[in-house]
Amino acid sequence: MVNITKDICYIGVDDHEIDLFEGMYIVPEGMAYNSYVILDDKVAVMDTTDRNFTGAWLANLEAALAGRKPDYLIVHHMEPDHSSGIEAFAEKYPEVKIVATAKAFTMMKNFTGKDYTARGIVAKEGDTLELGSHTLKFITAPMVHWPEVMMSYDEKDKALFSADAFGKFGALDAVDEEGWACEARRYYFGIVGKYGAQVQAVLKKAAALDIRIICPLHGPVLQEDLGYYLDLYNTWSSYGTETEGVAVFYTSVYGHTKAAAELLAEKLQELGCPKVAVSDLARDDMAEAVEDAFRYGKIVLASTTYNADIFPFMREFIEHLTERGYQNRKIGLIENGSWAPTAAKVMKGMLEGCKNTTFAETEVKILSAMTEENKAQIEQLAKEMLE
Ligand SMILES: Cc1cc2nc3c(=O)[nH]c(=O)nc-3n(C[C@H](O)[C@H](O)[C@H](O)COP(=O)(O)O)c2cc1C
Ligand SMILES: [Fe+2]
Ligand SMILES: [Fe+2]
Repeated sequence: MVNITKDICYIGVDDHEIDLFEGMYIVPEGMAYNSYVILDDKVAVMDTTDRNFTGAWLANLEAALAGRKPDYLIVHHMEPDHSSGIEAFAEKYPEVKIVATAKAFTMMKNFTGKDYTARGIVAKEGDTLELGSHTLKFITAPMVHWPEVMMSYDEKDKALFSADAFGKFGALDAVDEEGWACEARRYYFGIVGKYGAQVQAVLKKAAALDIRIICPLHGPVLQEDLGYYLDLYNTWSSYGTETEGVAVFYTSVYGHTKAAAELLAEKLQELGCPKVAVSDLARDDMAEAVEDAFRYGKIVLASTTYNADIFPFMREFIEHLTERGYQNRKIGLIENGSWAPTAAKVMKGMLEGCKNTTFAETEVKILSAMTEENKAQIEQLAKEMLE
């Protein structure tokens, strides 16, 4: 149990058992399900927890309450990693009023089979809840990244309870050697990336508030240098370029396409490219590759032709990009095939709908193994990517 401020207490839990977060994302450093309690004249509990940690979370809550009883449960998000404790909590504290958006109450019924509206307060945009010296103001955040999401702003401590926004992978007791952005970026583009416009809308509302503390549902509480985090969220949600350089993604069966991707990386470095990131889409973490595609403004895709199509991992990768609204990029293409290469055409076709995106004129076509002409084309492509 940790005090964030005099009245705001952290009562979340760390999860080191989980294999895949949201059924897809590896989390080698575990995951934190954050929850908070505000102890004022009235006591407000902010969200619950994951289903495997309801007992531990209720124990944290009890310790923080030190004999007091909660008055409100504020539900910011109904995804089960935060809402699985609602039933047990509501049973344990029958007097508590539940505060959530109308959509969240519908989801509560669908998840639990119980109707909580009789003891509920429906929160709408701009509504406030008085706790005593603290007043909570509710900010709806539809589709960041579910429709029922809302955030709360505590006017006294200037704390924003931001739901999944500003969250990251990793338990709080894990050592974060790479810094916040690495796993926050993988989390953002994996889970929220499709909803850039909705995140932009919330950032505009947040800009009108004096925020000193961000209390997200995952990852550390952010208290210093908040401009850094807000700027990153602005870049990410506007599909801007965060890092100058080129990211190269390849698939390869026998190694020839890999050799082409590596030669391109070498040429880019020789030409002074500030940063070159290379990913093997069959072996590297897919979510890590996806975050890199959004991090850099320029990418090169190199794929083998596979049954008159592209290699399955490349198809999956491009689908991850397009379903997340990939845009504002420059894309280079390298294809390989032993009898009838089609990879470049297929990749281009999949990416054609991306907004404000251009393709490099130099398209590298390899027929099995690189020729001297291919090597010259790759150098040409490197130059073009850096223009
Ligand atoms: C299952 C399978 C299907 C393939 N289908 C095609 C194809 O439709 N057209 C083609 O030109 N090459 C096809 N190829 C050949 C590869 O694209 C080609 O050998 C390429 O050079 C492999 O590059 P790599 O050395 O990077 O693996 C196929 C290869 C495999 C293993
Ligand atoms: Fe979520
Ligand atoms: Fe979450």
